[in-house]
Amino acid sequence: MKALTLVLALSAASTALAAPPKLAQQLCAACHGMDGNGPPPIPRLAGQQADYIAQQLDWMRLGQRDDGGAHKAVWDRLKNDADIQAIARYYAAQKTAPPPAKSIDPALLARGRKLYTEGNLAVGAPPCFTCHGEQGEGGSAAPRLAGQHAAYLAQRMKASDMPQPPARMEMQEILKTLGQDDVRALLAYMATL
Ligand code: HEC
Ligand code: HEC
Repeated sequence: MKALTLVLALSAASTALAAPPKLAQQLCAACHGMDGNGPPPIPRLAGQQADYIAQQLDWMRLGQRDDGGAHKAVWDRLKNDADIQAIARYYAAQKTAPPPAKSIDPALLARGRKLYTEGNLAVGAPPCFTCHGEQGEGGSAAPRLAGQHAAYLAQRMKASDMPQPPARMEMQEILKTLGQDDVRALLAYMATL
């Protein structure tokens, strides 16, 4: 009997994990999509690192990241850490939809690939893959870039003058080392990840 209870409890737990959290449906899906592949310029959350999703929500809630008020209707109902974790894990487990095919200038692409994989040590820009992963999959050190909307990445490749939480400074310092042509090349390359 004990064993049966355990099996039932386990299957209930896995069903609960597979089902989208109610709050994601009610609070996030209208913009980010139920599968996390919402339309540009709203960032995709599908496949994004769970810790990153939770961390950014925290910063936006505390006003440490400017979101243009996008989440102001959300905070009243998103107070509980367990809810945030559940939503973050749910979106992290979704599949990123393939990016739209487009033609990219091969020279620009090659320059972007070189910067991504080798950096530009002369100006102090480290290779991107060391934090964001070889395929842009992200990891514990940095968010996923692969499959992200180009328009959103372009917005995020601008250095901000706002005071930043220390954990954001690393990326901000890197952005300051890059020229406009570097950024264009990197955006071209990131669109292929
Ligand atoms: C009204 C539309 C809207 C709703 C609802 C909304 N978001 Fe967003 N979200 C945005 C926009 C727009 C941005 C980009 C903000 C910026 O950087 O300017 C964003 C950014 C984010 C980011 C940062 C992504 C990144 O790659 O840095 C996370 C994480 C996020 N939202 C999670 C959520 C979650 C979880 C919910 C539900 C609890 C939610 N959002 C509800 C519009 C929305
Ligand atoms: C030392 C680690 C590190 C390196 C190297 C690095 N990044 Fe980042 N990057 C981060 C972190 C951490 C964040 C999240 C910053 C935040 O929370 O605001 C980030 C954020 C980003 C974002 C915003 C993603 C989003 O969803 O909002 C983009 C785009 C990006 N990096 C591109 C690059 C590119 C291109 C390079 C190479 C020139 C690079 N990064 C090198 C750590 C790194």
